Amino acid sequence: IQEHLIPCLNAQKKAVLRALTNPPVPSTSERSAKGKGKVKAIEVDEDFDNATAYGQLKDLLEGTTMRNEGNSCLLLGPKGSGKTRLFERCLSEIAHSDSNAKPIVIRLSGWVQSNDRLALRQIAIQLAEETKEHSDDDETKHGQPIAENDDDNPFLDGSKLGDTGAEAGFSLPSAAHLPALIAELPKLNRPTIVLVDAFDLFSLHPRQALLYCLLDTVQACQSAQGNKGLAVVGLTSRVDVVSLLEKRVKSRFSGRILRVSNVPSEEGWLGIVRRCLLSPAALSPSNDETTESNVEEWTDLWTTNVEKFLADSATKQSIHETYSIVRDVRVLIRVFTPAIARLSPSQPFPTAAFLQRAMQSQRTRTPFTSLYTLPYPALCLLIASHHSDQKGHPVFNFEMLYEAFRVQLRASMAAPIQLNGTGIGMAFETLIAARIFVPAAAANLTTPKEFIKYRSVVEREDLKKAVEKAGQVSLKKWWNKS
Ligand SMILES: Nc1ncnc2c1ncn2[C@@H]1O[C@H](COP(=O)(O)OP(=O)(O)O)[C@@H](O)[C@H]1O
Ligand SMILES: [Mg+2]
Repeated sequence: IQEHLIPCLNAQKKAVLRALTNPPVPSTSERSAKGKGKVKAIEVDEDFDNATAYGQLKDLLEGTTMRNEGNSCLLLGPKGSGKTRLFERCLSEIAHSDSNAKPIVIRLSGWVQSNDRLALRQIAIQLAEETKEHSDDDETKHGQPIAENDDDNPFLDGSKLGDTGAEAGFSLPSAAHLPALIAELPKLNRPTIVLVDAFDLFSLHPRQALLYCLLDTVQACQSAQGNKGLAVVGLTSRVDVVSLLEKRVKSRFSGRILRVSNVPSEEGWLGIVRRCLLSPAALSPSNDETTESNVEEWTDLWTTNVEKFLADSATKQSIHETYSIVRDVRVLIRVFTPAIARLSPSQPFPTAAFLQRAMQSQRTRTPFTSLYTLPYPALCLLIASHHSDQKGHPVFNFEMLYEAFRVQLRASMAAPIQLNGTGIGMAFETLIAARIFVPAAAANLTTPKEFIKYRSVVEREDLKKAVEKAGQVSLKKWWNKS
C-alpha cells in the first residue's frame, strides 16, 4: 500500500486486535437483514450469541435491580462458551440503562477463593471499593462527611468484628461471622449482584457454607421487606453441578439453569471474524496525515479486501477444518490475533494463505512415525529416557542418561554394544536438534552442557513401536527390562 495509508493500517490493526479481545455483539440490523433471506437463517440467528440465555439473565438481574428481588441462577456451558461474556454484557446493559440504582457487583471465583475465608475477605475488599466510589459521589452531591462510608459496609465494622487485617487498612471479618455478614447484603443501600465463577468449586468448601449463606439470603430476601435485592449468578461447566449441592443448599437454590452454548455453526464463526475485522478503525482527527479522503480510501480498500478474504473458499476451508475439531471461540481468537498483528505495509490485508499458516502454528506436530530410523545410540538414549521416566524422573540431563546406559552395559551380557561417550553425546545433540528432547527449564549460561535438563516428548507407544521396528535384539531386551 501507499505510504500515506500506513497510519490507517496501524489504526485498523489496533481496532481489530481490540475487537478480538471481546468480539462485538451482532447488531440488530445485521441480524434482521440475514433473517430475511432464509427461514432457517432466522432460527440459527435466533440463538446466536446465546440470545435466549441473555434475555433470561437480563430479566433476572433486572428483577433484582428494579424490583429488589432475591434471585439465583446458574449459567451452564462449556469452557469458553461465553458465560463470563454473557454476564458482563447483561451487567453493562443494566448499568447503562438509567432506570434504577447502579448495582453493587461482587465477583468471586472458585479458582481463586479456595476457601470461604478468602471469599469473605474478597467480598469485604470489593464491597469497600464499590461503596467507597458510591459515597464519594454522594459526598460531592450532599457534602456529607466521609465517615459515613462505614455504614455502607457491614464487613468493615471493626467494633463488631475483631481480626484486624492491618495491611488492608481495615478490619476483616472472621469465618464465624459468615452467615450474619452475608445476610447484610440485601440491606445495603443498593441492589447487590454476586457473580460466582467456578461455582462447582465452592461446593468443595466445608459444609458449603458460603453457598448456603448466599442462597439462604437470596431466599429470605424474597419475602422480607425493605431489602434492596440480591442476585447470585453462578457460572459453571459441570452439568451435574446441582447434584453436588448438599440437600439444604439445593433446597434454597431456585433451580434456574440457563444454558450457554458454543457458537452453533461455521457461519457463526465467520460472522465473528467479519465483525472483528470490520470493526471501524478509530483514527484520531489530530493526526495530520490521516485526512478525510485517506480514511475513506482506506476504509474502502480494507472492506473490499476483507470481504474477498472471507469469500475465499480456501478461507472457508480453513475455518471448516478448525471448526470441525473445536468449537471454542477462543481458538479462533488465538489464531487471528498473531495473524493480524503481523500485517504490515507490504502485506496489509488478510489472505487465505496467511490464515492457513496461522492455524498451522496452533496445531500439534505430527506424531513421530519414523523414530526407528534414528541411529542406534539415539535409540539407546530414548530408551534410557523412558526408563528414567518410569522411575519417576521425567526430567533428565545427559549425565543421567549416559550413566543409565553404562550401568546397563556393565550389568548385562545382552547389553547394547559398546559406544564411546562422544558418539552418544552426538546422538543427544541429534535428539535435541530434532526437538525430541526439549528443554525442561530455562537455559542458564553457567550450567555445563551435560547437566542441562531436558524431557522427552515421545510417547511410550511410539517408542515401543520404534524399538520393535528397529529390530535390534539388545535394544528390545533393554526396553523390556524394568
Ligand atoms: N458467541 C460468542 N461470540 C463472540 N465471542 C465469544 C462468544 N462466546 C465466547 N466468546 C469469546 O470467547 C472468549 C471466552 O469467553 P468467556 O466468556 O470467558 O467463556 P467462559 O466464561 O464460558 O469460559 C471471550 O474472549 C469471549 O469474548
Ligand atoms: Mg469465564
